[in-house]
Amino acid sequence: MSATKDVFLQNYGPLAKDIGEIVISEEEIRQRVGEIGTAISSDYAGKCPILVGVLKGVLFLMADLLRIINIPSEVDFLAVSSYSAEARNKGMVRLVKDLEIPIYGRHVLFVEDVIDTGLTLNYLLKSLHERQPASLEVCVLFNKPTHRLVDIPLRYKGFDLPDRFVVGYGLDLRERYRNLPFIGLLKAEVLRGIKHPGEC
Ligand code: PRP
Repeated sequence: MSATKDVFLQNYGPLAKDIGEIVISEEEIRQRVGEIGTAISSDYAGKCPILVGVLKGVLFLMADLLRIINIPSEVDFLAVSSYSAEARNKGMVRLVKDLEIPIYGRHVLFVEDVIDTGLTLNYLLKSLHERQPASLEVCVLFNKPTHRLVDIPLRYKGFDLPDRFVVGYGLDLRERYRNLPFIGLLKAEVLRGIKHPGEC
């Protein structure tokens, strides 16, 4: 990494010292989230949508999106945990926290930070569909198309991500780095486990 890049990353504090390269900048994210939020406000005017997210990675996107959206809306969260690796491969997840708001007859926008295989989203969308919302659409900020196993229509999409392990803006490595405001690649020594992630 160049000295200039190093100095730039230092401005983000100690957590950023493990980052080798910024893939999507803070400014690019702010701009795209702003565009998506504005589009949602216009598309859902008069519909009072419920924005639904799956904990925990979506927290950052949800908070930023909601501050852009300027129409009446509600927010709720699901939490899931995996069964076995085999079950996960089939897209089966266990709901450990359900929605608090009934979605029957409501306009639901499912907000995800990242979609990779699409299995998690596919499973959860089926479950929400059974509750008969008036509409059910998907907003994903980071799309990783390389390993997609299920085709899911994305009404709103932020960025396509390369097939690399990235962190930041909700995406983690063993729970660290979610709070970086950009998407970055970790340095090789961190990825290889030689260095503990985000050492305190
Ligand atoms: C992410 C994301 C989805 C899932 C997508 O969650 O929020 O739930 O991965 O992957 P898929 O398309 O291959 O099914 P993650 O398991 O990283 O949990 P987290 O949000 O708590 O970090």
